[in-house]
Amino acid sequence: MAQSLARAPASLESDPRRLRRADPSWDFRGEDTKYATHGIYRYPAMMVAPVVRRLIDEYSPIKNGGRLLDPFCGSGSALVEGMLHGMTAVGVDLNPLAVLLARAKTTPLTDRAIRVEHQAILRRYDEITSAPANVDIQNLSFWYSARSVAELSRLRAAILATESEELRRFFEACFAETARFVSWTRKDEYKTYRMPEEKRKDWRPSVLGSFASVVVHNREKMGDFVSRLPKGVPTANVVLGDTRDPAALPNGTYDLIVTSPPYGDSRTTVAYGQYSSLSLSWLGYDRATVNRTDRESLGGRPAAELTPRPDSPTLDRHLTDIRAKDPARARDVLSFYVDLCGAFRWVAGKLAPGGRACVVVGNRTVKGVRLETDVILSELFEHECGLVHEETIVRGIPNKVMPLRNSPSNIPGQLGETMANEYVLIFNRPRN
Ligand SMILES: C[S@@+](CC[C@H](N)C(=O)[O-])C[C@H]1O[C@@H](n2cnc3c(N)ncnc32)[C@H](O)[C@@H]1O
Repeated sequence: MAQSLARAPASLESDPRRLRRADPSWDFRGEDTKYATHGIYRYPAMMVAPVVRRLIDEYSPIKNGGRLLDPFCGSGSALVEGMLHGMTAVGVDLNPLAVLLARAKTTPLTDRAIRVEHQAILRRYDEITSAPANVDIQNLSFWYSARSVAELSRLRAAILATESEELRRFFEACFAETARFVSWTRKDEYKTYRMPEEKRKDWRPSVLGSFASVVVHNREKMGDFVSRLPKGVPTANVVLGDTRDPAALPNGTYDLIVTSPPYGDSRTTVAYGQYSSLSLSWLGYDRATVNRTDRESLGGRPAAELTPRPDSPTLDRHLTDIRAKDPARARDVLSFYVDLCGAFRWVAGKLAPGGRACVVVGNRTVKGVRLETDVILSELFEHECGLVHEETIVRGIPNKVMPLRNSPSNIPGQLGETMANEYVLIFNRPRN
């Protein structure tokens, strides 16, 4: 994974006709991106904290006291940063693990409360000498040693007895990370693959020891978050829901949308559900719910036909090229943009007049055709969602934890380019 691709020189990506401007000052090379609760958990394709910070600073019409929405909030980077700016933050995601993490990262807790409850959990762990595994994972022994299963079961029972919902969530987030860490999954992948045998036989982490390191790390991050938080900021409202459904969002309008939607359908890009599956199962979700996460993700159900389609000449051109090679893949690609555009049709309506939407995307290659998602979205959001495209900032991604190459066919050895630059699109909602 993470092979280094030669990045296109910034000047090649600037394109005034498309309002694209490459700006290396947005790379934040070498900067701390994991301050405050941004450093809790490693969720796929997280937004880089200083990027969100600068977007709020430069583009939000109202900062302190304003309202921020992330309709694909993942682990909550935009929500954390919104709160740090004194904003009321709202997020939506359909992955229950993302919702748990986003809630844990945006709920301030005192250092003392975490320490006291950690001790209580350890005491309960000692008292519970055995607990039923009760976890809906197919072929559990393929992923875990018997010892890890026994220890995880006891630890889960000890955490579930935590009375305060806020504290329980914090420890469940630590537990989710521990459950993935101690498993036999390869740690450098976002797809779930088993470690090779020679690594497996040496992989004997203690569940309690791993959990303790995660708790200590996350407690420090929480302390940093709390010390930076302006007084009186409301805790973010994180909704478990499908952004394509207008009922998913609470009423109200927003001054700023900051979001990074998925890069494409979950089968051929990042499978958030698959990545989360072991953690979710240990948190008590059944297999049907876990499997649904990827199916329900944008583009999860391929379009039956290539028409009708939303208004983007660039998308039309790309679909024609892909269809000539593989009609089924063309329908996959279309369904992703149809879903994203459908969601944004009503999400854009939640912006207050004069409000801004900042959308971070990557461009990828399908069947040898480079999909210019930034251009497609600038067309779709202008033609279909009532937004005005102001500009696109092109930034390098020195730190983003993403595979720089993927295998669209999922056949080892067949690699397609993913992205080494990302595109930050800035839109506004006109005042009349
Ligand atoms: C690129 S990730 C967001 C990462 C996030 N910015 C962060 O920093 O952690 C995209 C997110 O969109 C979510 N998603 C995909 N389809 C969705 C849908 N239809 N409704 C709500 N969320 C969806 C995925 O579960 C994933 O968490």
